[in-house]
Amino acid sequence: MAVTSPYLSLFSITIGIYCIYGIGLAIYRLTFHPLAGFPGSKIAAATGWYEFYYDVIKRGRYIYKIEEWHQRYGPILRINPSELAIHDPTYYSELYVAGSTRRTEIWPRYRRGIGFDGSHTMTQSHELHRKRRKPLEPFFSRQGIERIEPSIAEEAMLLDERLNAMRGSGRVVRLDHVFSAFAGDVISRICCESPATFIQDEEFAPHWIVRMLPFGFLLKAYPGGAGFNSYRLLAMNHIADTKSQNYSPEKVNANAKSSIFRHIVSSDMPESERSIERLSREAMVLLGAGTATTARTLGFICYYTLSNPRIRERLTRELEGVMGGYDGGKAPRWSDLEKLEYLSAVIKEGLR
Ligand code: HEM
Repeated sequence: MAVTSPYLSLFSITIGIYCIYGIGLAIYRLTFHPLAGFPGSKIAAATGWYEFYYDVIKRGRYIYKIEEWHQRYGPILRINPSELAIHDPTYYSELYVAGSTRRTEIWPRYRRGIGFDGSHTMTQSHELHRKRRKPLEPFFSRQGIERIEPSIAEEAMLLDERLNAMRGSGRVVRLDHVFSAFAGDVISRICCESPATFIQDEEFAPHWIVRMLPFGFLLKAYPGGAGFNSYRLLAMNHIADTKSQNYSPEKVNANAKSSIFRHIVSSDMPESERSIERLSREAMVLLGAGTATTARTLGFICYYTLSNPRIRERLTRELEGVMGGYDGGKAPRWSDLEKLEYLSAVIKEGLR
């Protein structure tokens, strides 16, 4: 007589329920789901595991699969249970419209669970997103960037000093780490008045990304985490300090080194929008969004410039006019650099 364990039965029942649920979900996605009528692979439409396989196991190869599908299914196709891919540049102006034409809400699942809840970028409602984004806009205008130009220049000169000190040492320097350190220090300074710590790190802080992790997890997962401090903690401390100092908007404005969050704390934004918790999440978004993107772009530009002598020579020749006499004392101004046509083209190409 066969002997069955109660645990085995429970396990079989759980697996059975899970399978029935999975099959039901796949049927719903293929028949009643709002995207069910779009062309594309049926497996990809039924389950997200197909995308997972190509992006995680095959390390980011889903884009090539999508490209192949566009040849077969046309310019608009379904690439997973809840997303479409559109390969038609003319459709851009149809999709990305101003709020006056159509109000768009973000798809919250896209960014949920990464610790940014309450920040403008995670705000679903069109109106609230606008309200939360508005106070940040002046800092990214031309005038806003001109205001922080001396701080950026100081960081660039610090980096130049460090690289010069290594000249002739035979040491190999990883430029991706260097640029992450530079971008991370610039954005920490602009958001939180934090002094340069990554550029001063012996190895250019290759593990800066761990600063994005929640502090409790950081301490467990990364033994050096306590000394490193999380970005969240940095932001929370800075915002709590500025709140307790309670500077007037005039005093904050008078100092070009006042951080973005010092400005926001002293603004007339409703108190509910200025809580330490919400603003520190907003700061996390800027710290995260401003580091990897900038570092990667600098990395692309540097790689292609250094590996292509023709570009390198032309750029060096053009920069000589503005930087010929540079001795580490005074950085060139943005207003002079932006007049250089070839440099501007190189930057645009890197961004593209
Ligand atoms: C070369 C550098 C950069 C590139 C290539 C880049 C690229 C992008 C792209 C493509 C998006 C749209 C993402 C989406 O909608 O899914 C975005 C959004 C954003 N970026 Fe950047 N970025 C760069 C630098 C920065 C910097 C320096 C900051 C801040 C200091 C920043 C802050 C943001 C924020 C806050 C958003 C979200 C805006 C919103 O939801 O309203 N980015 N960026």
